[in-house]
Amino acid sequence: MLVKRIGEAPALEVRATGIPYAFAPCIAVCRDPRWGHCYESYIEDPKVVQSMTTLISGLQGDVPAGSEGRPYVGGSKKVAACAKHYVGDGGTFMGINENGTIIDAHGLMTIHMPAYYNSIIRGVSTVMTSYSSWNGKKMHANHFLVTDFLKNKLKFWGFVISDWQGIDRITSPPGVNYSYSVEAGVGAGIDMIMVPFAYTEFIDDLTYQVKNNIIPMSRINDAVYRFFRVKFTMGLFENPYADPSLVHELGKHVSSQHHIFFLSHSICQDP
Ligand SMILES: *[C@@H]1O[C@H](CO)[C@@H](O)[C@H](O)[C@H]1NC(C)=O
Ligand SMILES: *[C@@H]1O[C@H](CO)[C@@H](O)[C@H](O)[C@H]1NC(C)=O
Repeated sequence: MLVKRIGEAPALEVRATGIPYAFAPCIAVCRDPRWGHCYESYIEDPKVVQSMTTLISGLQGDVPAGSEGRPYVGGSKKVAACAKHYVGDGGTFMGINENGTIIDAHGLMTIHMPAYYNSIIRGVSTVMTSYSSWNGKKMHANHFLVTDFLKNKLKFWGFVISDWQGIDRITSPPGVNYSYSVEAGVGAGIDMIMVPFAYTEFIDDLTYQVKNNIIPMSRINDAVYRFFRVKFTMGLFENPYADPSLVHELGKHVSSQHHIFFLSHSICQDP
């Protein structure tokens, strides 16, 4: 399928840069064309978005039969994928970016959640949480949807990553109580936190919270198991370094992640 090949091309190029991880695909179900990030996602029909998760198999390779649902990266020319942004990012009020998705549980589960089922079956290694809220609760602090539902009910075994400064935005204004952000984000079940600047503060806050049993050690262990699981399946312990022999692949296939989205999007519109 073409969509799978559209995933294979950037997998090679991303590997060639030495980074074995791509923040794709965006499986947002765009319910409002006013949403400025619709162009990064596929379409408004959840069934089409589900079928587009084939891109994950292009980036990571096909999960071997019998291992469906386990994180999988098939060798040194594939990369870990990231299904994002969990969940409801394309359903916000009036299409306002990072705003609230107001919908009942049935609507969430039948419109915004289905593509996550397909992603997990295809062995997606990581899931990124959304800046947006569901019925007033920030996704970066949503223990029910991240831990109870994604990890425990759907049995997602990869790791959950935050968006850029995503935990800062749990509070309004962002970062106004960073220790609360750390507690709420890690406590919700996010395993890897994307902290571009405040990393010393992050480490201090998290260390304090673990030492004082605010964050239980079992939460840290859960995250570490998940990192190791993904890193082992990626072969990072056998091949930890960039492969310079791939350098000729750079610039040969596609020039940026966004081309995938544009290409896939035009396929959706022109079946
Ligand atoms: C949504 O946007 C409105 C208008 O900017 C803002 O007042 C509100 O706080 C936002 N809601 C969320 C959940 O971000
Ligand atoms: C920040 O959040 C913590 C909980 O993590 C709370 O104990 C503290 O009172 C909050 N600080 C402020 C200034 O609101």
